[in-house]
Amino acid sequence: MNKVGFVGWRGMVGSVLMGRMLEENDFAHIAEPVFFSTSNAGGKAPEIGKEVAPLKNAYDLDALAELDAIVSCQGGDYTKEVFGKLREQGWQGYWIDAASSLRMDDDAIIVLDPVNRDVIDQGIESGVKNFIGGNCTVSLMLMALGGLFREGLVEWITAQTYQAASGAGAKNMRELISQMGSIRDGVANELADPSSAILEIDRKVAENMRSAEFPTSEFGAPLAGSLLPWIDTPMESGQSREEWKAQVEANKILGTSADVPVDGTCVRIGAMRCHSQAFTVKLKKDLPLAEIEQLIGTANDWVKVVPNDREVTVQELTPTAVTGKLDIPVGRLRKLSMGGEYLNAFTVGDQLLWGAAEPLRRVLLILMG
Ligand code: HSE
Repeated sequence: MNKVGFVGWRGMVGSVLMGRMLEENDFAHIAEPVFFSTSNAGGKAPEIGKEVAPLKNAYDLDALAELDAIVSCQGGDYTKEVFGKLREQGWQGYWIDAASSLRMDDDAIIVLDPVNRDVIDQGIESGVKNFIGGNCTVSLMLMALGGLFREGLVEWITAQTYQAASGAGAKNMRELISQMGSIRDGVANELADPSSAILEIDRKVAENMRSAEFPTSEFGAPLAGSLLPWIDTPMESGQSREEWKAQVEANKILGTSADVPVDGTCVRIGAMRCHSQAFTVKLKKDLPLAEIEQLIGTANDWVKVVPNDREVTVQELTPTAVTGKLDIPVGRLRKLSMGGEYLNAFTVGDQLLWGAAEPLRRVLLILMG
């Protein structure tokens, strides 16, 4: 593939994508990378170790139409604005996108190659041109439990999520830290005095968090020191859109003929960029735990089973341990008291890596052969 365009490479997901592509020397495989901007056409393109032209206008359909592939991390509004027009004027290149707009379209494949390389390969063979990154919790769930799905062992799953601020955006990450700072600053004097009364500290903290001055313009409510059990817009089913995505996207990624039910409650918590999920898995049969661990732990190169041991769990199965890494630890594996077909599991994954950027850079490499 000769010419690959990058749009939205400067944003948070785009920056993680650029970082990973540089780390893995991906640009060596692209004859002509072309960088676009929605606001700074003519500006300087990023340093990628080879000569690249100045930034082009991301709304210039003629410039886009010259590309063999476009990788967009610019967001859904950009996709809605540009994608349809480009296709209408006959552009046949590959569209690779982090945004959700095209995900459920029949002519799009949701990419997560360690889990659905077969679906991707069949798609390429049959002429599919649109390859879209999945929702982060869904991708991270399938990276973690892909071994069970692959063996057809899952009757249903319920996922309770603990989602990081990054999933809501860069400004939300900043607001989370500001909230943390405000909480601490509001009781700094009392904290410095070991004999101060904890209930008085607690009262002041709650008062601060409920006050109009507490920074909540992004989340709309305090997240630090609290949680928000709603992510994204409401659906008629009573689910949030984030909850709705779990089943439709997971089954689309896997290419299942009959939907495996996946549902639960999606919750925003005060982690920075790792999403965690607690699963109850209803298995189709009562397999020994050792066999289950083996299936889960060997499904791809990144998943690893964390022993169900307190010390190891609190060291290795946390957002703090996993942030910035491609590892997908899965732990708390045990049979639930409901019976041998009921499996408990907990996983943590970096929302910006496997949850966003990594599947995109990998599908680009696959498409380039
Ligand atoms: N929708 C996800 C979240 C992130 O809000 O955490 C993107 O998949």
